[in-house]
Amino acid sequence: MAKSGLTRTCLLSLFVLLFVKFCVSDTSLLNRKAAPAGNNQEASGDDSRYVIVFDAGPAIGVRIFKFDENGKVLRINGGLEVFHVVPEALSSYVENPAAVASVLAQLLEKALDAVPSHLQPETPVIFGANDELFLMAEDKYEKILGVIRDFLSKSPLLYKPEWVNILPAAKEGAYVWDTINYLMGNLVGDYSNTVAVLTQESASMQVAYAVSVKAAANAPKFPNGEEYITAHQIQSNNYYLYSHGYFPYGAYSVRTEILKYTNDSYSYCVTSGYDEQLNYYGEIYNVRASPTGSSYEKCRANVLKALNVNATCYVHNCTFDGAWNGGGGAGIEKIYLTNGFHNTGADVSIVNGSNTSTDLKILEYEKVAKVSCAAKSPEEAHNLFPGVPLFELPYLCMDLVYIYAVLVDGFGIDPTKVVTAINAVQYGGTSMDVQWAFGAALELVSSKHTKIWDVPNVFSS
Ligand SMILES: *[C@@H]1O[C@H](CO)[C@@H](O)[C@H](O)[C@H]1NC(C)=O
Ligand SMILES: *[C@@H]1O[C@H](CO)[C@@H](O)[C@H](O)[C@H]1NC(C)=O
Ligand SMILES: *[C@@H]1O[C@H](CO)[C@@H](O)[C@H](O)[C@H]1NC(C)=O
Ligand SMILES: *[C@@H]1O[C@H](CO)[C@@H](O)[C@H](O)[C@H]1NC(C)=O
Ligand SMILES: *[C@@H]1O[C@H](CO)[C@@H](O)[C@H](O)[C@H]1NC(C)=O
Repeated sequence: MAKSGLTRTCLLSLFVLLFVKFCVSDTSLLNRKAAPAGNNQEASGDDSRYVIVFDAGPAIGVRIFKFDENGKVLRINGGLEVFHVVPEALSSYVENPAAVASVLAQLLEKALDAVPSHLQPETPVIFGANDELFLMAEDKYEKILGVIRDFLSKSPLLYKPEWVNILPAAKEGAYVWDTINYLMGNLVGDYSNTVAVLTQESASMQVAYAVSVKAAANAPKFPNGEEYITAHQIQSNNYYLYSHGYFPYGAYSVRTEILKYTNDSYSYCVTSGYDEQLNYYGEIYNVRASPTGSSYEKCRANVLKALNVNATCYVHNCTFDGAWNGGGGAGIEKIYLTNGFHNTGADVSIVNGSNTSTDLKILEYEKVAKVSCAAKSPEEAHNLFPGVPLFELPYLCMDLVYIYAVLVDGFGIDPTKVVTAINAVQYGGTSMDVQWAFGAALELVSSKHTKIWDVPNVFSS
């Protein structure tokens, strides 16, 4: 696929897709409402509110959004967001945290250009780091966050130290849910108009869907105090969202969960013919194919072990790794799969990588898993799936077996169910990347019962 080929020239393949698309995606100038001609929305005066969100993981980006006084998104420079990115991982600053300030300075300068100076003091700036940082020692990531807090506290923007943090996976899942459901126009009326969102990030997998008021009131209490259901306000509507983050069950981190069982021997999940090592946040894993090659069935057994499907379940109705499934209901009838699910699907051509969304049955993932696990050599795997970048090829059988297993054995979804794989959402003739930053900004401007600077909970899980 042309798009993923472009992406792969960056570093971490699956997730930088979001970052390589540039700033303002819209050129079509299709206005979403019959506004008076010209740039009236942009010149709509002092009631508009801006939010600046730094989004840092495999790359460091800044996104600027503009809303009206009711929390409705407005166009900014002709698109739905202004976006700038520096293709460097936040984790690469671990030995030299002070250097991250110069990257932020570059990005901040561009962000400030998009916000009228008289509105800057009331424009919130938030910084969310990908939860991959949790794989580092706490003193190391705290040092980086400290530099960021210090830097942003000196900016002309509205800043609070707690707005700079590592974004918990469950929260990220909820914000991605906000983004997709808002842009699809699902947030009118009842929660049953909404879709469930499963996001595969690099270090975690997240699920979010809306539940009824009654289900929220009857949610079980958990011994560890975890709150699976939280209240969310978007514009003037309230939703109860079930959300959970599975860590480390992201597209990259789960590879180590699978490989750790076979580190001293060989793995039936590694594509035939490979023998190499993976260094993941300082831990070394042997990525060694079985002499008889990869095997779908044997890999699947290994993956189910890694998924911990038989973990103690305190409340009945668990998915995997001991997590409650939220009880189900109308909010999970339609399922949207984002990020890694979409991009891996596009690599193996079951998802149309040239389109922002594709409907498919979950069993399509199993079909390609079986084909890839049956490949007898790296060359054969490459010929079968030329869209998969070479550095991902050793993991192809494993990644596909995992995606299918997590959906069917983990979440209990019927393999014949049609789901939607998505990486961007169309809105009024423009598309916006699937992302958490927009959802976080939306919740921030929606909390109108309080002054925006009193909103304490951007990052609490
Ligand atoms: C895997 O084995 C290698 C030696 O082959 C060792 O260096 C590494 O620490 C092991 N990794 C784990 C996670 O046990
Ligand atoms: C989980 O438990 C079921 C029923 O006891 C068993 O058949 C299955 O093999 C177990 N799965 C794993 C991965 O341990
Ligand atoms: C578990 O599922 C059953 C059957 O669907 C349902 O009646 C029960 O309320 C669920 N319990 C929890 C805690 O989700
Ligand atoms: C993929 O999507 C693009 C854009 O919508 C479309 O033009 C193309 O025909 C699709 N390809 C396939 C194989 O469906
Ligand atoms: C492309 O995506 C849009 C929605 O994002 C969808 O309506 C359309 O059917 C898709 N086209 C193809 C060829 O899959």
